[in-house]
Amino acid sequence: MTAFTQEQLIATRPNLHRHGDGSHANWGVSDSVLRYIAKHSGPDAKTIETGAGLSSVAFVLSGAEHHAVFPEPYLVETLTAFLDDKGIDRSRLHLHNVPSQEFLPAMPESGFDIALIDGEHAFPIPFLDWYYIARRMKVGGLLIIDDTQIWTGQVLKTFLSVEPEWRLVWDIYGTSFFRLEAPFVEKWWAKQAYTVLHSQITPQAVPYLPEPVLGMLAPIYDTEGK
Ligand SMILES: C[S@@+](CC[C@H](N)C(=O)[O-])C[C@H]1O[C@@H](n2cnc3c(N)ncnc32)[C@H](O)[C@@H]1O
Repeated sequence: MTAFTQEQLIATRPNLHRHGDGSHANWGVSDSVLRYIAKHSGPDAKTIETGAGLSSVAFVLSGAEHHAVFPEPYLVETLTAFLDDKGIDRSRLHLHNVPSQEFLPAMPESGFDIALIDGEHAFPIPFLDWYYIARRMKVGGLLIIDDTQIWTGQVLKTFLSVEPEWRLVWDIYGTSFFRLEAPFVEKWWAKQAYTVLHSQITPQAVPYLPEPVLGMLAPIYDTEGK
């Protein structure tokens, strides 16, 4: 047990990151995300994040079995040094010091209750993170997408917002929170509402479109009686 608390983490926001020149940096998630982790994670939870830092500490403090996936070797040192300095038990923390796009495809772990996507934000990495993590999440699990002000995060958020398996449970500037309500399924493009709505659709494709999209397109393609 440790005396260091989630509220102390929020109050102090330690600099766990480093700029290229070695100077201190802090690219941590917002206080709202830290509080969300504190509220929804716990000793019974199995959790994962791409990227690492303040959020990793929040998951560890919650008592979860936590997996963090990130490429920078220095973060192993800053994270473990911080946890040890504060006397925080890190026996359930698993650090995977590998870029997520290399680690996740063959990851043996599954059954995640909470996942945070906050690693590389360049195209297509957040989509890969989602693709490989979503299939390993429990139904009822929570997915946090951070930095949705960046185009990649924004597309992922909007895409999931109209997928029936996902429910947007909270949305704040920069972060979206989803619950997985049905098992992850592979779909071909015409069953993905967001993909259809951003595509050039020929009348021949209309019969194959998802019901909700058909409803939206009907006024465009329904020329009968006009
Ligand atoms: C915005 S920071 C994450 C902040 C962290 N969630 C926190 O609260 O401190 C972005 C993180 O992405 C990590 N990163 C960069 N490229 C990555 C990749 N290809 N796979 C996984 N993580 C990556 C960096 O190590 C950095 O920790």
